[in-house]
Amino acid sequence: MQARDVLTALATGEAISGATLAETAGVTRAAIWKQIETLRAKGVPIEARGASGYRLPWPLQMLDERTIRSQLPGTVASRLGALEVHWELDSTSTELQRRLADAPDMSFVLAETQSAGRGRRGRSWLSPPGLNLYLSCLKRFDAGFAALSGLSLALGVVVLRALDSLGVAGAGLKWPNDLLSEQGKLGGILVELSGEYQGPCAAVIGIGLNLRLTDALRAQAGQPSDDLARLNGGTPPDRNRVAAALIHALVDGLAEFERDGFAGFAQAYRPYDLLLGKSLHLTGALGELDGIGAGVDARGALLLETSEGLRRVDSADVSVRRV
Ligand code: BTN
Repeated sequence: MQARDVLTALATGEAISGATLAETAGVTRAAIWKQIETLRAKGVPIEARGASGYRLPWPLQMLDERTIRSQLPGTVASRLGALEVHWELDSTSTELQRRLADAPDMSFVLAETQSAGRGRRGRSWLSPPGLNLYLSCLKRFDAGFAALSGLSLALGVVVLRALDSLGVAGAGLKWPNDLLSEQGKLGGILVELSGEYQGPCAAVIGIGLNLRLTDALRAQAGQPSDDLARLNGGTPPDRNRVAAALIHALVDGLAEFERDGFAGFAQAYRPYDLLLGKSLHLTGALGELDGIGAGVDARGALLLETSEGLRRVDSADVSVRRV
């Protein structure tokens, strides 16, 4: 019995004794205990309830490719290059990078857990199994890097459209593409480009979404974090439903971006823009800059109303703080 099987057995939220688990799987209780400890070490809060055994504090849904597919309209499903759900990968984005030469356009890879999840700026991305969502998508473009400006902002809009479709409100975007609520980071988007400036190129788009964080995970995150459970009245939407909503929004949104570029998203960005009208302090390659957030332009640059007039900030290498 692997850690995945133990988590699947516990997914209902009912308590199961170590003896029952061991008997069902034909292994020793010590082997079960080892897998319980593996899951706990990865951040799954498995409780021990004396004689009644092990249980999760809430039920969860294991990711399932067929269930995700069944929730996609036929017009979306037919545009997928691949859809894979893995138990564990080093990183869903690293997996797509390894298969860049062969993987079909619009391939989606999800994992229940990542052993080396990657965030922006070389940070790691905590990836406990069963609680959150880790998904990467390969999108190929014919037009070259030059046509991709604003892609990562457009993807922020795409993810928020997916949350809207699930009825989850209260999330917004901090330029360029941080997914935040009033309480902290809800997820992240990592876009990695390869190919040619004016020829064919590919984007590996990695999205991590917090569905359910425990106190221990929040402490480990090292920054204020939030989850969809809180925004959704205490229970996150079904994980397979969230995966399907994200895939649906990505298939539609990437086709829209390929056709119209960021210009088509500039208006849609506005209601989600958490920096609009806020006093900001920017630091980075451009030095230090203070002003009021004035939205984004048709290429996705941040607009800042300063004492010397309107400034455009393109560089992603800049940190923005609300003051
Ligand atoms: C950020 O730092 O804000 C971006 C985080 C991106 C995390 C996701 S999880 C799925 C994909 N695989 C990774 O290793 N990273 C991205």
